[in-house]
Amino acid sequence: MKQFISVHDVTDINALAAKALAYKADPLADHQLGWNKRIGLLFLNPSLRTRLSTQIGARNLGMEAIVFNVDKEGWALEFEEGAIMSGNTVEHVKDAAPILGQYFDILCIRTFPSLKNREDDYSEMFINQFIKYAGVPVVSLESATLHPLQSLTDIITIRESLLASPLPAGKKPKIVLTWAPHIKPLPQCVANSFSQWINAWGEAEFVITHPQDYELDEKFTKGATIITEDQDAALKDADFVYVKNWSTYTDYGKIYENDPAWMLTEEKLALTNQAKVMHCLPVRRNVELSDEVLDSQHSLVTRQAGNRVWAAQAVLSEILKSSY
Ligand code: CP
Repeated sequence: MKQFISVHDVTDINALAAKALAYKADPLADHQLGWNKRIGLLFLNPSLRTRLSTQIGARNLGMEAIVFNVDKEGWALEFEEGAIMSGNTVEHVKDAAPILGQYFDILCIRTFPSLKNREDDYSEMFINQFIKYAGVPVVSLESATLHPLQSLTDIITIRESLLASPLPAGKKPKIVLTWAPHIKPLPQCVANSFSQWINAWGEAEFVITHPQDYELDEKFTKGATIITEDQDAALKDADFVYVKNWSTYTDYGKIYENDPAWMLTEEKLALTNQAKVMHCLPVRRNVELSDEVLDSQHSLVTRQAGNRVWAAQAVLSEILKSSY
């Protein structure tokens, strides 16, 4: 693996997920693999899980991990080609990235979208500029449109859950991605990425449900079994329910309808097949999901967040192995 930006960088999702679960069983199995290698974790936006789990995964492989909060501690970066830098930006990415490429063997980056200009965000200019100029493998810690480490974790968690509680032979799990209310306009990254990975995985009946005006980019959702605005119908007999808010894609970055009735409650969960409930976190309790659901035996969210370590470790291991 030369980089990890989307599902297209993975040749075999099940093999990568199995590798992650093998690391979960034996975290230090490859503790020498990253000896004398250094990983840089650059954050242009806040993080709890991604930051810490990637550091732990790197350390389990023997790597030195250095975190740099670019947004708070670095010079303001310019990303536009040909920019006349007479404004607030101090350093161009084409100057900074090659230096980071000398300091680090792997460069990991988190950037969020502006949610103001769809074309800019969906061009993935920030992460693509790092890929272009760093000269070392780049790992996305969430970009403007995708969150691949989260999605790999999600598939690991679903597979782990199915191993513990198998479905009847030959039955594909019904996985429902449902929109949930939120007080702020949020990126589409997690929903885009989850859709992209579940579609590429191809081992589920995949249903997406959202209110009118919240359609995602078809590039990511194409392949879903059904996309519906009827949440109750979508939830019927679901085995897994993935809850996530996102802002509008078509009239970009807005909150339109924000009906509290879309929150996942015990009543809604009763429509499912005793579904396991997932969310990437952080979650707004009693806005996106009720306390009763989050604190119930149905919730996988804590295990899901724990699995972030093994997803990161599996990805870094693949990159290290291909760079020897
Ligand atoms: N799910 C996720 O990416 O969490 P953080 O934003 O805390 O890293």
